[in-house]
Amino acid sequence: MRTKVTTLFFGVYAIFILLVGMTACGESQVKTDPIDKKVEEILNGMTLRQKVGQLNQLKHAKLIANNHKETDVNIDSAVINGDVGTFLNVWWMKDKRHYQKLAMEHTGIPLIFALDIIHGFRTTFPVPLGEAASWNLPLIERSARIMAIEGTSSGNMWTFAPMVDISFDARWGRMMEGAGEDPYLGSQIAAARVHGFQGDDLSANNTMLACAKHFAAYGQVEAGRDYNQTTVSERFLREYVLPPFHAAEKAGCRTFMNAFNDYDGVPCSGNKFLIRDILKGEWGFKGAVVSDYNSFEEMVDWRYAKDRKEAALKAIEAGSDIDMMGLVYMDHLQDLVEEGKVDVALIDDAVRRVLKLKFELGLFDDPFKYFTEGLQEKEWRRPEYVEHARKIARESMVLLKNDEQLLPLSKTKYKKIAVIGPIDAKPETHMGTWSAAGPKEEVVRFTEGIKNKVGKAATVTFEAGCADEHTADSKALARAIRLAKSSDFVILTLGEGQWFSGENTSLVDISLPKPQVELAKKIKALNKPTVVVMADGRPICMPWIKDNMPTILESWLAGCEAGNALADVLFGDYNPSGKLPVTFPAHTGQVPISYLKKATGRPTENGTRYLDASNDPAYPFGFGLSYTHFKYSNLKISTDSLKLGQSLQVSVDLENTGQYDGKEVVQLYISDLYGSTSRPLKELKHFELIELKKGERKTVHFTITEEDLKMWNEQMEFVAEPGEFQVQVGTNSDEVITKNFILS
Ligand code: NOJ
Repeated sequence: MRTKVTTLFFGVYAIFILLVGMTACGESQVKTDPIDKKVEEILNGMTLRQKVGQLNQLKHAKLIANNHKETDVNIDSAVINGDVGTFLNVWWMKDKRHYQKLAMEHTGIPLIFALDIIHGFRTTFPVPLGEAASWNLPLIERSARIMAIEGTSSGNMWTFAPMVDISFDARWGRMMEGAGEDPYLGSQIAAARVHGFQGDDLSANNTMLACAKHFAAYGQVEAGRDYNQTTVSERFLREYVLPPFHAAEKAGCRTFMNAFNDYDGVPCSGNKFLIRDILKGEWGFKGAVVSDYNSFEEMVDWRYAKDRKEAALKAIEAGSDIDMMGLVYMDHLQDLVEEGKVDVALIDDAVRRVLKLKFELGLFDDPFKYFTEGLQEKEWRRPEYVEHARKIARESMVLLKNDEQLLPLSKTKYKKIAVIGPIDAKPETHMGTWSAAGPKEEVVRFTEGIKNKVGKAATVTFEAGCADEHTADSKALARAIRLAKSSDFVILTLGEGQWFSGENTSLVDISLPKPQVELAKKIKALNKPTVVVMADGRPICMPWIKDNMPTILESWLAGCEAGNALADVLFGDYNPSGKLPVTFPAHTGQVPISYLKKATGRPTENGTRYLDASNDPAYPFGFGLSYTHFKYSNLKISTDSLKLGQSLQVSVDLENTGQYDGKEVVQLYISDLYGSTSRPLKELKHFELIELKKGERKTVHFTITEEDLKMWNEQMEFVAEPGEFQVQVGTNSDEVITKNFILS
């Protein structure tokens, strides 16, 4: 029966192709997108069950869904019956090929295989928050490109990345997966990553579908607790949360993923306002929206749907197209249509979107195009990818403190170097959570990287000093102290382990764990030259370290080349240029915190404040030192009286006045001095990565357009309001020089 239907619509499809071809050669051109016409033909030949099948996403292995109980769905039969349209997490190529073959033989519609390729497939790169600290868009795009090349060579066609969630709350462990707190930087990075994954031609066999996630406000989960409720206003949503999503959509991102949280009382998977009104309405998104893992069914747990059937109804009405592992579409959508509760037009719209992706990937032309035997051996871990991993890792590192100019180190001065601390005990720590096919054996630990750098000039020895990041061990501590005493330089590596940031890793306290602080105190007491290297997927509060250790470098979780990249930075082969993409709070109690704060009605010292601590963060957004010094001067604007519609030219002189060549991220902020709603003190609007030789000077130019001055006004319109503005240019969000102008 299935085979007959298939033969029928493929026959129709073949005639259609012929007709399109004839028309294209003839006098009148077909105006509609040719893919849309092909999709329509296929859709017309499908049964309701086949249509629903396209909206089901399953995974290989016994299914875990229905409130995490195992189900008895047989995957082979599901494919044969056309009850599955896309898969996630089918790891082996032979399994993908097997399912694709079954699908083509029995349904004629190819499957898409998806996997979370987040910060590396075989070659692991720094975690996304770390990469964001490079502010280097071409490098970030290149990481995504390499992930796509490596990932597709193993048969993956769709990644669930980039995560573009803005967050002000480091208690939320998934901050690690995004680009930090700023909507502008986040938007630039979102677009770069989408382009990296999707390339210029989605039908090539080394590009893959990107997925902007988690739509929306997942970064605002209350109290930083993963999957929690949110209390975000529409204004906050539009000002801070949506811009990176919109940027991803404008960059052509073909899929979006729902978020686990609710927005304005409605779980995001069933949220019409987010999906139908904003994403598919205002923005005109033509791609497909996938649920997060079982998030349709979770609407029952949210007490938003009375049962799984109602969850299916609410999800399809809201505009969610694909059901990842919830099986609620599989179980209920057909009945809902047949009972007249769901208009089949909604199903058709969702199916069209899925089929279109399959055409865009070129799967109808060649369903096996991603399964080339032997390709992964050629494409995985090419030397240039490993070199890129090293490059982006060192550009991600942020120098937080260098008070005694201990850095950069001489390669020959120190003969006995100790690497101490729990971070370097396990190579996998450096890979972060989404390490995909990256084996820990390929990670260059800090200790190895330093050894590679100094060669025979010094001995390099490691001691953990603790049982792990959270657990003290007196014997390990004693060994570490002995080693430090007998060494002439200490690299103290502190932070959090591989599974301490990422999904479901919320913390109530983001302080550096006590055993590590104790270790640092003991090392400090030895009075040896010491550099602290932090490794983590979020800002960590470390007041004692900040106040007492003169040299601190943030390395994030730096990927497979962590050690070589660190050595490049410590020994001055790379002059650090990373800048924090997120404010580093001084205390957990300050979060949520960001530079995008408002003045409030009581901005003075005795006004909005804490009794027990200052409002100041440990390090502001955009902060990062260099071994050299950059001087900003001569800020000029083309007019101090701008008319709506005109643009403003801004220039500033940047001079490298220090002793080393270096790179600086020149940051331009705009402060809207008053408006029809209360305004943040400043907002990042542009940045430039400028490279200067020592002693060199350059004039850096920016253009501010009306778009840059727009805000969501009281009536929730996106407009530039006449009034006074301030241009701020500087090395971080706190240290700027300014010029004011009036917009009329
Ligand atoms: C749940 C996560 O929230 C999401 O980011 C991920 O893509 C899916 N699981 C699939 O693994």
